[in-house]
Amino acid sequence: MFNDAKPEYLFETLLVEVADGVAVITLNRPAKRNAMSPQVHQDMTNALEQLRYDDRARCLVITGASDVFCAGMDLKEFFIALKNTPREYERVWRMAVEWRGQTLRHYPKPTIAMINGYCFGGAFSIVEGCDLAMAAEEATFGLSEINFKLFPGGSVSKSLANLLRPRDALWFGMTGRPFDGKTAERIGLVNMAVPRATLREETLQVARELAAKDPHAMAATKQAYYASLDMSWEAAMAYSFAKEQELVVRQGDAWKTEGIGDFLKGKYKPGLESHGVT
Ligand code: ACO
Repeated sequence: MFNDAKPEYLFETLLVEVADGVAVITLNRPAKRNAMSPQVHQDMTNALEQLRYDDRARCLVITGASDVFCAGMDLKEFFIALKNTPREYERVWRMAVEWRGQTLRHYPKPTIAMINGYCFGGAFSIVEGCDLAMAAEEATFGLSEINFKLFPGGSVSKSLANLLRPRDALWFGMTGRPFDGKTAERIGLVNMAVPRATLREETLQVARELAAKDPHAMAATKQAYYASLDMSWEAAMAYSFAKEQELVVRQGDAWKTEGIGDFLKGKYKPGLESHGVT
């Protein structure tokens, strides 16, 4: 039902554009520095569900409007406004951690965080939830929670544990000191920091490169990596073998007949170039 659909992406708090195989999702609350209100979590949950089945979108990029990535959770609309409605607080809390920590991680398509400016607290979980991350050198990151008497709550401490070295996670978590994109690159929070002026084009170039790979092999690459993190060697080998068989079924054996086959016919060199999608 979904495969032939070209959904309209109309959200209160997001802009979604799909072009050249890439969907760019832009958090669009610049007046509130793109802070994640309950509506943002609802819209993200819906957008990710729709984009999952939109064949035009083979790679996702998440960014923010107006030279700001995301100022973290909306401190007013979430922590203060929902203080006296614990069921609603729990519902939004769960939605907030699920799209960043579960949906993105297990998303069948590659995802890239494009950090164009301020990135605080809960926004670290967007960065970590995405497979890759590219930042503006001028961006400002910070685990600001300690500065207002909180700790990196929700999914943030888990994101720090997943991604950073202990010294860096604790340094920035305990001091709350802001840092720039180059530092984010140095500590491995992002793959690469580039000047803000070229960030969008460089990110889209990577996104288009990923969008041109075989989608089933791409999904398996993510799944095998993330699953292996939590598995014993024996379980990881059993998973890997089963995944290989699954790939044959999903692709119709393309990795052998076309991928290896065209190499053996001398048509291309997979060490140096991509076969692409046929
Ligand atoms: N939640 C709710 N509203 C926010 C947030 C936020 N996280 N961040 C900014 N805003 C709002 C401000 O309240 C202000 O609203 P108003 O115009 O209605 O008064 C508007 O956005 C602009 O904010 P300024 O502070 O005026 O913007 P400035 O560009 O000078 O500073 C900065 C931006 C540095 C992001 C600053 O707003 C700030 O420190 N925000 C808090 C960052 C933070 O600690 N986030 C929470 C992380 S913890 C977590 O996610 C669980």
